[in-house]
Amino acid sequence: MESPFGSLLYKMLEKRYGPIFKTNLIGKDLIVSLDPDVNHYVLQQEEKAFHIWFPDSFMKLLGEENIARCYGSLHKNTRNLIRRVFGPENLRLVLLHDMQGAVDRCLSSWRDSPSIELKPALSSMIFGIAAKWMIGYEASVLSGDLWKNFDAFNQGLLSFPLNFPGTAFYKCMQGRNNVMKTLKEVLDERRKKAETPERMDFIDVIVSELNKQNPALSENLALNVLFLLIFASFETTSSGLTAALKFLSDNPKALKELEEEHQKILERRADPHAEITWEEYKSMKFTSHVINESLRLANVAPVLFRKATQDVQIKGYTIPEGWIVMICPPAVHLNPTTYEEPSSFNPWRWKDLSEPIGGSKDFIAFGSGLRLCVGLDFARLQMSVFLHFLVTKYRLKVVSGGDMVFGPGLGFPNGFQVQLELKNKLSL
Ligand code: HEM
Repeated sequence: MESPFGSLLYKMLEKRYGPIFKTNLIGKDLIVSLDPDVNHYVLQQEEKAFHIWFPDSFMKLLGEENIARCYGSLHKNTRNLIRRVFGPENLRLVLLHDMQGAVDRCLSSWRDSPSIELKPALSSMIFGIAAKWMIGYEASVLSGDLWKNFDAFNQGLLSFPLNFPGTAFYKCMQGRNNVMKTLKEVLDERRKKAETPERMDFIDVIVSELNKQNPALSENLALNVLFLLIFASFETTSSGLTAALKFLSDNPKALKELEEEHQKILERRADPHAEITWEEYKSMKFTSHVINESLRLANVAPVLFRKATQDVQIKGYTIPEGWIVMICPPAVHLNPTTYEEPSSFNPWRWKDLSEPIGGSKDFIAFGSGLRLCVGLDFARLQMSVFLHFLVTKYRLKVVSGGDMVFGPGLGFPNGFQVQLELKNKLSL
């Protein structure tokens, strides 16, 4: 299985227009950069010569005050609040345990089904886990409406921004408004409670911040951040995992090595039914290579935008103040100078490459610089835990589908239908 993007496309674009060129692709003058050095430079210049930018229609969907409009200490403080729940410390102490139960239950609920539509099933599983740690959401407490409204939001996300009844954009806005109403109700309810719980979800973190004399952020910003976090958590990770499972199902050798890594973890334990420890998670080297390779090829975030805040000279080009630069991660990830046979799924290549933990010039699946994805540790842990339970307990059988397209986000036009077969009935 090759990348849905094909390195050829980027080669053709580069040959025809050069590594940096001007276009009007989204109805606005912008500079497209296929050059890894320029991309790296621009991302490192956040809050200096550039700042993050999104098209107006997308900004509208993120809300008037949102994290993309936060700079300096407000941005830093907002990220710190998010990291109190989704940073490595809480992942190690609390979420690792929680995720395992949720993943195990979810996989066993798929067992008797003749066909599982993988991407939405993964989205729903991750939504359940993430929403619990954002707003204490339990499916039984709030009805499935929250999920339905997020889904409506997602469906119209890349639609033409015509906001009147019947259009996809209108439904998307309605979905967002309904979710925001629920989030506000949950926040108001929580603010009435006097005591601070021992284990805080993101709403508790917000409440304790808003109760301070000089809160780091406003209620409106907090609610918009919450909205983005819930959405970003399930949509991106489920796409990445679906792509990983497709690549693995097409590469039996890689799947076998992954199974062996996880089998060894079980064998080293005194009790094979014990939970994954943080040390075991950190020892999953091949799993980490599979995740890097899948995200390199899948390009879940296919474009990143930045706006120049001053004239910038780079590599003989001038980027004028006010212009938008469109960074294309696929051009970086499919660059044959860095990655041999760039379109092939080859997790072993990562044995010789350094781990791109905080983003690097050649790996920007999670961005880089000040705007590096704040959920990357959560996403990597979620993917690893899922792969562990999957390969130690089940065989994944492809029923149908699995094609991937780029349009402009990663899509699965005919879905990806799979079936689970228990490996060893005694292991349950
Ligand atoms: C495979 C999964 C994921 C991928 C590929 C991904 C990708 C990205 C990328 C590329 C950016 C940078 C955007 C830019 O620079 O313009 C970003 C930022 C962000 N991501 Fe993720 N993400 C993932 C998972 C998550 C999760 C699980 C969460 C939440 C728990 C999350 C929350 C965010 C937030 C809030 C930002 C904005 C950070 C800021 O502006 O400082 N992401 N993500």
